[in-house]
Amino acid sequence: MATDETDALSGRRIVIAVSGGIAAYKAAELVRLCIKAGAEVRVVMTKAAQKFITPLTLQALSQHPVATDTFDLQQESTIGHIELADWAELLVIAPATGDILARLAHGMADDLATTVALACRAPLLVAPAMNVNMWNHPATQKNLQTLVERGAHTVGPGTGELACGWVGSGRMSEPAEVLAACVRALGPRDLVGQTVLVAAGPTYEAIDPVRFVGNRSTGKMGFAVARAAVRRGARVVLVAGPTALQTPAGCERIDVESAAQMRDAVMARADGQTAIVMTAAVADYRPKTVAKKKLKKEKLGAAPTIDLEPNPDILAELPGRAYKFRRPVLVGFAAETDDVEKRAVEKRRKKGCDLLVANDVTEAGSGFGTDTNRVLLVGAEGVERLPLLTKDQVADRILDRVVALLPKAGLKLA
Ligand code: PMT
Repeated sequence: MATDETDALSGRRIVIAVSGGIAAYKAAELVRLCIKAGAEVRVVMTKAAQKFITPLTLQALSQHPVATDTFDLQQESTIGHIELADWAELLVIAPATGDILARLAHGMADDLATTVALACRAPLLVAPAMNVNMWNHPATQKNLQTLVERGAHTVGPGTGELACGWVGSGRMSEPAEVLAACVRALGPRDLVGQTVLVAAGPTYEAIDPVRFVGNRSTGKMGFAVARAAVRRGARVVLVAGPTALQTPAGCERIDVESAAQMRDAVMARADGQTAIVMTAAVADYRPKTVAKKKLKKEKLGAAPTIDLEPNPDILAELPGRAYKFRRPVLVGFAAETDDVEKRAVEKRRKKGCDLLVANDVTEAGSGFGTDTNRVLLVGAEGVERLPLLTKDQVADRILDRVVALLPKAGLKLA
């Protein structure tokens, strides 16, 4: 057992929910590894899981009774579903079948495992395992995406020969990999007692009640930062431009549409923040006038001209603002298409932020709408180039830098 895992999991409270697939046998080894790493483990099994492996096995390994039934009076009095949900610091679903992913994505609570999941505020880690065609089905992919957008962590599945005879993706990750994912999902709690404001998504600048000037931001990068900050213990205010994304659990969300509304929302909540992260793609310009009624094509002629005026620059306004308590650590982003490093260094200086995160939005897998990003972190001490990472990983790397900046900002970690 790696000491890293023992250090990270010692004394941590993990609920492992086992759903019904052939990979359920791997749950036994996962429970054993978690116990060996010093974690306290409680196991929940679905009805189908009990067809593949007995509760007795997992009870012996976890050293605690296994919970199987929401309506069993004796179980409910000793290991109630709310008590389990509140007790958990991490909820792991391993294996996670296509069926349980669907039920989790839709917030169903029709058995003990999904009831605990719905009531649980701890991070969720799912280890999918199923037939390759079930895994590739758009419904499964959409369900998993929904869970990830809500902040769930995933591990696997791996590729290879499946129990059903097919070859492809769908094998549950090995228990040691799931254990490592538990460590990552629990992560550091280094922002407890701190507050983080994240501005995310695009802004829409109205032309008339129907049309607007906008951009391609989906909010994914900013929502990832908000999720990571919650996971690390911060109180998070998420100022969101128009986006279809679901609010990460534990965030206070303020919806805005235009740059002016985003500015007002950010300024109203800037005081008292530990850090402000401006991930949002704020429109630099807006139409000078907004028509009250839809502009009629016939009246506009062939190619109408729309006069624009500059929007306020929210990030640039933040360093010089008067703060009642303290000046937050300020993180800006830069969406570039060329000369990324040079422009990012210059932008950081011009906007006066502590850290600037630059991405080349023309690069495959980076920038708008992707689940991954390759960024440069530009700080006072120089430039750090990160490899292509998931936006969740990028978010954690940004917050690592924020945490490192806190002592300089005169803030103590909890
Ligand atoms: O949302 P996704 O689809 O996940 O895409 C992520 C992203 C590409 C939007 C994100 O990674 C990103 O690059 N965000 C910054 C986009 C941007 O507006 O960059 P900029 O170089 O134009 O602005 C520099 C900084 O000033 C940004 O922090 C921006 O929020 C801020 N700004 C810009 C203009 C303005 N009027 N006010 C501002 O505060």
